[in-house]
Amino acid sequence: MKLRVIQQRLEAAGVISVVLEDDAGRRLPAWAPGAHVPVTLSSGVVRQYSLCGPRDDPHRYTIAVLLVVDGRGGSREVHQSLRVGDVIEVGPPRNDFELLPAPSYLFIAGGIGVTPILAMVEALRAQTDPPPMRVVYGGRNRSAMAFLDRLATLGGVEVICEAEAGRPDLAALFADAAAGTRVYCCGPPAMLTAVQEVGDAYPDLSVHIERFTAVVRDPAPVADGAFDVELARTGVTVTVGRSTSVLDAVLEVAPDTAFSCTDGFCGTCETKVLAGEIDHRVSLLTDDERQSNSTMMICVSRSSCGGKLILDL
Ligand SMILES: Cc1cc2nc3c(=O)[nH]c(=O)nc-3n(C[C@H](O)[C@H](O)[C@H](O)COP(=O)(O)OP(=O)(O)OC[C@H]3O[C@@H](n4cnc5c(N)ncnc54)[C@H](O)[C@@H]3O)c2cc1C
Ligand code: FES
Repeated sequence: MKLRVIQQRLEAAGVISVVLEDDAGRRLPAWAPGAHVPVTLSSGVVRQYSLCGPRDDPHRYTIAVLLVVDGRGGSREVHQSLRVGDVIEVGPPRNDFELLPAPSYLFIAGGIGVTPILAMVEALRAQTDPPPMRVVYGGRNRSAMAFLDRLATLGGVEVICEAEAGRPDLAALFADAAAGTRVYCCGPPAMLTAVQEVGDAYPDLSVHIERFTAVVRDPAPVADGAFDVELARTGVTVTVGRSTSVLDAVLEVAPDTAFSCTDGFCGTCETKVLAGEIDHRVSLLTDDERQSNSTMMICVSRSSCGGKLILDL
């Protein structure tokens, strides 16, 4: 979809929201809380942004973007070059952070990770009989925390500024949660790791996390054997070397292939597989999707036994 920027607003220090709509006034695809859209900026860079505007407005999408100074430039482009009136390519909503029914919820947002959590809390609070929920929003200081005004209108949100009160006490939050509670967390990598670690001790709670950035790891291990990949639409075959990804090999012959995180967590490079056995190296797909052997994230997943893969590219 080509969508026009109709509004930009400073939501907090380093965070701007962007409202997008179709020039012809067409309805945009519906979305559920937790969904994000891939946005292709004028430089050709693709980045994902969680939808965080009102869901009862079928004609507009709202995203909010934190400026990442040490990043690869996507957020800098949004902050420095994107202007009201510009038209950008926006893909359909994708949801890997679905809000599932539960008797109670614990929401933990850190920094810009508030975007999908805000949409979830607003949706639940709009219900006639909202389920019990605890909402905790941590940030460095108030001036850098977006959407405090919207969250304040929802009531009962615990805002924890690191500068004043330190970090949210995750152990206490989990200990207080009733059995069956679904825990949703989106925030910086350290927060997600801590939530997963604490959550491991509570098998009666379900933990759902959304990752915005890559996990910092030791250098990637050597990937393993080389194999061939055929691009079905052109018939071209490329060889994927031991230490390169399918994406790297595909980009050599199809430079317009979409990708973003290159680490298996955003879904931008998901590609249909027409033949061959996939070695999935991501947690993004459901068990059914993995077993169907029909789609893969080409930035990290590989061929399972060194056999040829045929991709719908
Ligand atoms: C599902 C999803 C939803 C998202 N929603 C939002 C949102 O609502 N708002 C928002 O502002 N952002 C969101 N993001 C993040 C967004 O897509 C961009 O990553 C972000 O804007 C930064 O882009 P960039 O090009 O400026 O920096 P990037 O290069 O993408 O870098 C982001 C951070 O990751 C680090 N990093 C990059 N590559 C690696 C690596 N290989 N290993 C370790 N660290 C690395 C960088 O140092 C930086 O701190 C979302 C991402 C995903 C996957
Ligand atoms: S580029 Fe993000 S999953 Fe492959």
